Amino acid sequence: MSILIKNGRVITASESYIADVYTEGEQIVAIGKNLNYKADKVIDATNKLVFPGGIDPHVHLDMPFMGTYSSDDYETGTRAALFGGTTMVIDFILQTQGDTLHNALKTWQQKSIGKAIGDYSYHMAVTDFNDDVAKEVVQFIEEEGISSFKTFMAYKGALMIDDGQMVQLMKVVEKHGGLVTVHATNGDMIDSLIAKNRSEGNLSPLYHYLSQPEVTEAEASGRFADMLNYTDCPGYIVHMTCEGALNAIRKATQRNQKVFIETCIQYLLLDASLYEKGFEGAKWVMSPPLREKKDQEALWSGINQGLIQVIGTDHCPFMLEQKKMGINDFSKIPNGHPAIEHRMELLYSEGVDHGKISLTKYVEISSTNAAKIFGMYPRKGTIAIGSDADIVIFDPKKTHTISKETHHMNCDYSGYEGRKVTGKIETVILRGKIAIENNACKLKAGHGQFIARSKTSKTVI
Ligand code: URP
Ligand code: ZN
Ligand code: ZN
Repeated sequence: MSILIKNGRVITASESYIADVYTEGEQIVAIGKNLNYKADKVIDATNKLVFPGGIDPHVHLDMPFMGTYSSDDYETGTRAALFGGTTMVIDFILQTQGDTLHNALKTWQQKSIGKAIGDYSYHMAVTDFNDDVAKEVVQFIEEEGISSFKTFMAYKGALMIDDGQMVQLMKVVEKHGGLVTVHATNGDMIDSLIAKNRSEGNLSPLYHYLSQPEVTEAEASGRFADMLNYTDCPGYIVHMTCEGALNAIRKATQRNQKVFIETCIQYLLLDASLYEKGFEGAKWVMSPPLREKKDQEALWSGINQGLIQVIGTDHCPFMLEQKKMGINDFSKIPNGHPAIEHRMELLYSEGVDHGKISLTKYVEISSTNAAKIFGMYPRKGTIAIGSDADIVIFDPKKTHTISKETHHMNCDYSGYEGRKVTGKIETVILRGKIAIENNACKLKAGHGQFIARSKTSKTVI
């Protein structure tokens, strides 16, 4: 199949210009003015933006967590992602403590192969590090195309590793060209605050927020940066939410250290006042929790200062019935919310349309930087000759309203119900095939491919 996209404004992480883009098979073959190819399909993109398919490097699909499973699987989750202009996601494989990484990989392959509609990769979450796991880490980097290893400094007893394991893991990962990513919050401190609140009968969702104060994230982020500095390992902090954590990494940069930072769209747009709505606040129970307006300002500044490189979602949806597992105890509410579908539109509307970020910055943080950091660039994350034809055609003027009635995520609420946005994903192309057109998904389960990733380093950006 060949597609000729005519007269759109092509946006990359560094350029903005009007051109035609021609794709053949799975790749971009030509970019230029007045291209004269005979294509199977011609799309008039006059007055539209043409940018690389979004990459969301932080999603949890069909994940066992807190006694239940996240409600989007690979089919529904990657379909919803495509509707929102995200052509590739990176999910997290969770090692079961006491078991091997390879067994966990098999479990996640069963969830994804034949089901994914959009492209995907996995981070490998190491929850139990020892000498045998160290050998598997090397095999994952060298043979499986999985070069990023997730760690948790919280969720003790299920996912957390201690600082000794962390440092040993970093040494192995550094030696073999991988990257350590982290959920950076002080698990022991949070557990003690949860226990105190529960013992005092403070059981509503508000106490989820009050049990994870800013210092728990700032302290762990700084500690993680110190361990990276000691081991010389490249690192990436997922879902950073607050000024204190950002300042901890700003300080690390004074010793010329680079620590990649991701924040998520909800931390830029939503705040902790949502926890004052009684049990409805459970819709936004996630870890770390939503923060304050001053944190949103700090995060937007961090993006423009280049301290924050990536915007993800931490998409981890649960139905309202699942959220009710914690109706009498905030600590039993499954953590997470639905977000995979609206990251690109919300970031455009609130970021570009409201004048907070440039169009090139938009592409950089929604696609290009993730491709670079996670070893997929320039196959993914840009509009260039030879890159995968993962392309979004976007109407920057069209307005619409987000609602659970119209979204495609398998979740019976939206965290943004009724919110008006400017700019609409119109057409999405995945590896040269039309994925989304006229508000319909044209691809079937099984179209999505696992994308093997290469080694990475601190200097990719
Ligand atoms: O609340 C969250 N974030 N749920 C998913 C697991 C994690 O910590 O990322
Ligand atoms: Zn996390
Ligand atoms: Zn997560």
